[in-house]
Amino acid sequence: MAEQHKFLMDESKIPEQWTNIAADLPGEPLPPLNPGTGQPLAPEDLAPLFPMALIEQEVSMDPNIEIPEEVREAYRLWRPTPLMRATRLEKALDTPAHIYYKYEGVSPSGSHKPNTAVPQAFYNAKEGVKKLATETGAGQWGSSLAFACEMFGLDCEVFMVGVSYDHKPYRRAMMETWGANVHRSPSDLTEAGRSQAEHTTGSLGIAISEAVEVAAGSEDTKYALGSVLNHVCLHQTVIGDEAIAQLEMAGEYPDVVIGCVGGGSNFAGIAFPLLRKKLKEGLDTRFLAVEPAACPTLTKGVYAYDFGDTVGMTPLMPMYTLGHDFVPPPVHAGGLRYHGDAPILCALVKEGLIDAEAIPQTEAFEAAVTFARAEGIIPAPEPTHAIRAVFNEAEAAKQAGEERVILFNLCGHGHLDLAAYQAFMSGELEDLEFSEAEMERALAALPEAPSVA
Ligand SMILES: Cc1ncc(COP(=O)(O)O)c(C=O)c1O
Repeated sequence: MAEQHKFLMDESKIPEQWTNIAADLPGEPLPPLNPGTGQPLAPEDLAPLFPMALIEQEVSMDPNIEIPEEVREAYRLWRPTPLMRATRLEKALDTPAHIYYKYEGVSPSGSHKPNTAVPQAFYNAKEGVKKLATETGAGQWGSSLAFACEMFGLDCEVFMVGVSYDHKPYRRAMMETWGANVHRSPSDLTEAGRSQAEHTTGSLGIAISEAVEVAAGSEDTKYALGSVLNHVCLHQTVIGDEAIAQLEMAGEYPDVVIGCVGGGSNFAGIAFPLLRKKLKEGLDTRFLAVEPAACPTLTKGVYAYDFGDTVGMTPLMPMYTLGHDFVPPPVHAGGLRYHGDAPILCALVKEGLIDAEAIPQTEAFEAAVTFARAEGIIPAPEPTHAIRAVFNEAEAAKQAGEERVILFNLCGHGHLDLAAYQAFMSGELEDLEFSEAEMERALAALPEAPSVA
């Protein structure tokens, strides 16, 4: 009998709760700090930026948090997403490994980002907020938030990293179709943007500073972040929870779970529910976080308190960082160009519960083209990095002669990123160098804070 490709679930199987991995960490997590006082942040400190419901989730130690019915109703537009067995890819790679991917590209904006954009817009609207300000790298987050704001009647203002704004006009068109107002960052609309005008390609860190400034300066406007924070990672766990049920349908369980990491949210989404199972049931699952070699936060950064943005407006967070004013080279995976990572993910890497690996973009795109030719889907530039790591695992399984089960998160499609594929196929895609000297310069400017090493 032919192998089953798609493992699909009914809408009634959309998870009813999010998985809060903070409850599973050994000991209390290190708190974010108020940069002014150096003291642990109080929930009220975040009130100018976020609605209370999200602040509560940010600091919650409850193991599970209920998903509101209105959010589940919106999720039904695209969830549950399919779990796919990549049988054609397995043949192309001639590997005994069984390769599964959770495909988040079926969402309205084409990635995992609406999983958190929808609840963020919902909680803000419920607390009377009128507008959300945000940053976007590749445009995936901005378009997801634009869509979610439209669903819940909010205005949306997006600061888009300059290099992506220039390269991805159709992402901007998507945001505007869903009613958002989009600016090229650095812009001259904010102090933060004006102070960084010489960095014309922009960075996520600069765009965050601009959006935070807009939100902090207006009563009825709040800020929304597409990654890094605990509540964002929390919302993404619908991915892993669905995957567990779908793998059960397939009668398999992964030996290794792989995802790409920009700020950490899609990786958290697929990994955290399976990590909880590993910790509770003593399973031998390996977790692998994959980042670009040009922005190797987990593999080359230092573990320290640092700002989440470039200008230094956010709380200090304990994380692996390349330095908050490190401006990563303009790799095509715009969503992976971030100097830090989710503190909760960093804590798990530091504990040795999650491995990390950095991959150059040419190797990533080479793997993605093989994947597209076998499975049909053209991946977003970000998950191409995870796909290269999957190929390496599949090869290791072949060398060992073992039928290992690999699960990865195909967190978005690349239909609006075809310029990157064009560059790869015409031989113009280069591996942009990571500069140790630039990192050392940025690390010398780390803020004063207690040591966490
Ligand atoms: C498709 C896609 N994957 C991955 C990322 C990286 O973010 P995260 O690590 O939070 O999933 C982004 C960010 O914009 C993205 O658009």
